[in-house]
Amino acid sequence: MRLDGKVAVITGGGNGLGKACAQKFAKEGASIVIADLIDELGEQTVDSINTAGGEATFVHCDAVSPLDNQAMVTHALSTFGSIDVLVTAAGVSHSEYRSGDQEADVKFITRRADYLENPHKELLELELEDFRKVMTINLDGTLLAAQACAAPMIEAGKGGSIITIASIAAKHPDAGPIPYVCSKSAVWMLTKKLARLLASVDIRVNAIGPGFIDTHMTSLIDLLPKERFEQFFSNIPMNRKGLPSEIANTALFLASDEASYFTGEILHPDGGYFTE
Ligand SMILES: NC(=O)c1ccc[n+]([C@@H]2O[C@H](COP(=O)([O-])OP(=O)(O)OC[C@H]3O[C@@H](n4cnc5c(N)ncnc54)[C@H](O)[C@@H]3O)[C@@H](O)[C@H]2O)c1
Repeated sequence: MRLDGKVAVITGGGNGLGKACAQKFAKEGASIVIADLIDELGEQTVDSINTAGGEATFVHCDAVSPLDNQAMVTHALSTFGSIDVLVTAAGVSHSEYRSGDQEADVKFITRRADYLENPHKELLELELEDFRKVMTINLDGTLLAAQACAAPMIEAGKGGSIITIASIAAKHPDAGPIPYVCSKSAVWMLTKKLARLLASVDIRVNAIGPGFIDTHMTSLIDLLPKERFEQFFSNIPMNRKGLPSEIANTALFLASDEASYFTGEILHPDGGYFTE
C-alpha cells in the first residue's frame, strides 16, 4: 500500500498506459480520478477499479481544453478533497489517432512503410495542421494538466508528484514521425523546467520515456511488412514490446515516497533500446 491515502489524477486513464497506472495505483491504496476524452473507455477503467475493491471516479476531459482541465481538478477536489499525484498519459501518435480504433492507423502505417523506403517524403508531405494537432494534444495537454493540478497541490502545502509520459522519441529521432518526436522532446524539456520551478514547494516532476509498449498505440507496428517488423525488433535487445504493467511499476515508484530524491529525471523502461 505504497500510495495509501493519496489521490491520483490520471489523464488518458481510459486505455493503455494510463489505465495500467490507474489500476496499479488503486491496488496500492490511492483514490483515482480518471480523465479521458473517450467517456466509454474512462468509465470502463473506473468500473474495473471499483469492481476490484478500489476507489475511482471518471471525469470527461479533452487534454487540450483549459476549461476541461480546470473541471477535472474541481471534480477531483470535490470527490476526494486533494490531489497528490498526477500522471499525464493522454496522448496520440498521429493526428488522426483515436485509441481503440484501428481504421486511421492502417492509413497511417501504410504511409510510414513508404517513408521507411523514402525518408525525405516524410518532410515534404507533412501538413502543418497535422503537426500542430499532435503537438497540441501531447505538449499543451501535459502543460495544462500540470498547471491545473499544481495549483491545489501548492495550496495544500503537502507537496506532490507529477509524472509526465514522454517516450524514447524524446531523445531519438527514429522513434516516431516528426510531430511525435518533436512533441515528446518538448514534453521532456517541460518536465525538467517544471521540476526546477516546483522543487521549492516539494512537488517532484519526472518523466517516463517508455520504449515500445503493448497498447493500442503500438498495435500498428504489427501491420508493418514482415522484414520491417523484424528489423524494428532488432533495435530492442530484449526483443519484445514492454507490458503496460511495466510502465505502471515505474510510475508507482515515481509516485511513491521511495522516489523522494528524484526530480527532473526521465526513466526509460525500453528493453535496452538506448544501449546502442
Ligand atoms: N505505447 C507505447 O509504446 C508508448 C511509448 C512511449 C510513450 N507512449 C505515450 O504514452 C501515452 C499513452 O499512450 P498509450 O500507448 O497508452 O495509448 P492508448 O491509446 O492506449 O491510450 C491513450 C489514452 O489517451 C486518451 N486520449 C487521447 N487523446 C486525448 C485527449 N485529447 N484528451 C484526453 N484523453 C485523450 C485516449 O482516449 C486513451 O484513453 C501517450 O502519450 C503515448 O505517446 C506510449
